[in-house]
Amino acid sequence: MPETDQTPIYLDNHATTRVDPRVVAAMVPFLETHYGNAHSPTHYFGAEAREALESSRGKLAELLGAQPDEIVFTSGATESNNLALRGVIEHPRCRRGGVISVVTEHAAVLDPLRRLAKLGTPVTWLPVAPTTAPDCGVIDLQQLTDALDDSIGLVSVMWANNEIGVLQPLDEIGRLARAAGALVHCDATQAVGKLPINLARTPIDLLSCSAHKFHGPKGVGLLWVRSGTPRVKLEAQQLGGGHEAGRRSGTVNVPGIVGMATALELALTDLDQHQSHLRQLKQLMWSSLQEQLAAIQCEVELNGPSWERDDLRLPGNLNFRIVGIDGQTLLARLPWLALSSGAACSSIHPAPSHVLQALGLDNDQIRSSLRVGLSRFNTVDEIDRAVRAIVSTTRTLSAMR
Ligand SMILES: Cc1ncc(COP(=O)(O)O)c(C=O)c1O
Repeated sequence: MPETDQTPIYLDNHATTRVDPRVVAAMVPFLETHYGNAHSPTHYFGAEAREALESSRGKLAELLGAQPDEIVFTSGATESNNLALRGVIEHPRCRRGGVISVVTEHAAVLDPLRRLAKLGTPVTWLPVAPTTAPDCGVIDLQQLTDALDDSIGLVSVMWANNEIGVLQPLDEIGRLARAAGALVHCDATQAVGKLPINLARTPIDLLSCSAHKFHGPKGVGLLWVRSGTPRVKLEAQQLGGGHEAGRRSGTVNVPGIVGMATALELALTDLDQHQSHLRQLKQLMWSSLQEQLAAIQCEVELNGPSWERDDLRLPGNLNFRIVGIDGQTLLARLPWLALSSGAACSSIHPAPSHVLQALGLDNDQIRSSLRVGLSRFNTVDEIDRAVRAIVSTTRTLSAMR
């Protein structure tokens, strides 16, 4: 029976998230009345904007366990990653030009590194554990150790993957890289606001994140650049008025930054509660899919870490494949159900997912894969409806084979 209730359900929260209404409320005054330029502090309007900018910087720093002057505001994680990677390697006083990264990084890390490689930077790409391993998607720390030598200036590893949600062992990676004298950059776009964080105690040097992944607005993010020794020497990539202590020129997005600070505060305040809600929904979705698909003689397989190692996966991530069913075809029949058949960020290039390829999945397995990103706004009722719709569409498509 086709689902009669077709009220849209949003389960694509790795692509972007709904802005929390409290975030919108915090931003509105900075669009309507307090619209001054934070870099014009000689008058009332500018001074108010400057005040909001600096108090948001302070709030974000406190939430992240950082210092306010370590935060560089950007337009989002793509820009933060570009600034971190190119900024470190292109600095005139960069002494060690080699980089280590991972094959499953987001395009916003892969592409700047490919550009650097074209210009002569040696880049070592680490593989990840294959789909047959319980820790599927995680890097091998011995391979990292073997790749670290005195030519390596920077190690860039994402914290949480945007497709399979797998978490990398950031502390161990940081300790190994630092012991070898390299800086560590982390693309934490999918992790910030979802996992506890304290940068003061994390052995890394640069971290990228983006407000729209944690119920904040689009077009605003930050790069955290650790202060102290060894100093992170960063070559600005965007030149102009010398804003953000010369590290990123351009008028800052005050409403966006106020929204980002509010969003992170809301995400982290009740983090335990949000995490257990997400885990409960994920558990429900996975067990219902297995049960209901088995009842129609269809198999469903998990992508990423095994279910026993669900501790290695983001609380709100589920990536699975329904054997023999084309994911795009299934989604085309359910336009009211927002899921993804690959990374939304790269869906303008409809090539098979490089992340799933790196796990050793073949093209048929990749074509049948679906990615679910849950948020704290999702409900049990939505998961029940989503599963029913996926199962009944699978039944229809199976009957057509
Ligand atoms: C892991 C990761 N890094 C970077 C980005 C790019 O973020 P933004 O949209 O803020 O540029 C994304 C977006 O999906 C992502 O998931």
